[in-house]
Amino acid sequence: MSILSLVRSEVRQLHPYDAAEQVDDTIRLNANESPQISSIGNFRRPLNRYPEVRPQRLQSTLAKRFNCADDQILVTRGSSEAIDLIIRSFCHAGVDHIVTPTPAFSMYRHYATIQGAGVIEVRGLAEHDFAIDVGALLEACTETTKVLFVCSPNNPTGTPLPRADLLRLLDARKGSSAIVVDEAYIEFGRESSAVELLRAYPNLLVLRTLSKALGFAGARCGAVIGAQEIIACLSAVQAPYALATPVVECVEDALHERQLTVAAEAVDRVIVERSRLMQEIGRFNFVSKVWPSDANFFLVRVNDAIALVEHCKSHNILLRYFGGDLADCIRITVGSQSDNDTLLAALDRFGKG
Ligand SMILES: Cc1ncc(COP(=O)(O)O)c(C=O)c1O
Repeated sequence: MSILSLVRSEVRQLHPYDAAEQVDDTIRLNANESPQISSIGNFRRPLNRYPEVRPQRLQSTLAKRFNCADDQILVTRGSSEAIDLIIRSFCHAGVDHIVTPTPAFSMYRHYATIQGAGVIEVRGLAEHDFAIDVGALLEACTETTKVLFVCSPNNPTGTPLPRADLLRLLDARKGSSAIVVDEAYIEFGRESSAVELLRAYPNLLVLRTLSKALGFAGARCGAVIGAQEIIACLSAVQAPYALATPVVECVEDALHERQLTVAAEAVDRVIVERSRLMQEIGRFNFVSKVWPSDANFFLVRVNDAIALVEHCKSHNILLRYFGGDLADCIRITVGSQSDNDTLLAALDRFGKG
């Protein structure tokens, strides 16, 4: 079965929104825009005009950055929007479902629930740092499994999915499910992007974001990369003019060589700080385990996780507690050197308290 046939037939037949034509250096009386140019902000494209339906230049720049063709990428409002578009495009409400490991990023479940799609969560291997159990994921799949989500490095465990495991998923579900690899944190690790597998696997979709390593969470920009025919379907579902002019211009500027160097240096600093923090935190007697991590966060197992989170909050530091299978764990994001020093001082007081 071709991957396109897995997309909902309504979506396959959907024509992209017929937007008013946009041609440079013309008098535009075709889009009910205001002739009044706002004095607010200083943008290359005036704000009285709609943005491009899809930001072409940004799309090409991101395609180059992520090593795919221009028609294999859709720029989205954060990778969160891409998760939503994928689920809405593939899953019929009340019929189809997604499969995802747990613990993993909770937005997969969130958007599936909104769509009325089922969610099958497959527990990771508790004895192996909650590593994704690929055999169990495949066993959980049925005829109505339209999308399988994996995150590499995984949030909140920080561990990457070995390439052999990904290939096993892609091969086993070729023609039966879309396999989404969420690479939100890939820049902080050593693995190469799964985009290089796209030619061989039309059922692969890769998510990237500018919210983490690039430091632009506030701009809400991400991307989904996949086979051209699937990207065309996702684009038909996405709202026209989804990316606002200020966002497009801000992200275009963020992708200039000099800015990219600054971002890469920031990633290097996070990686150095990550190993310092992990080492220092591992010394506290209330910490029984520090997970290895390829991300800008790591997981620790502690004696009394809730008390520790509360203690840190009382010192103005917010940490992430999940409960459930991770009831004795806390996820710590690596901050600046001084943030991390403040955290270590607070943890020291907790140890002595
Ligand atoms: C694994 C993972 N994927 C996707 C996202 C969404 O990122 P954004 O919508 O900011 O691109 C996050 C955010 O924390 C995440 O942890």
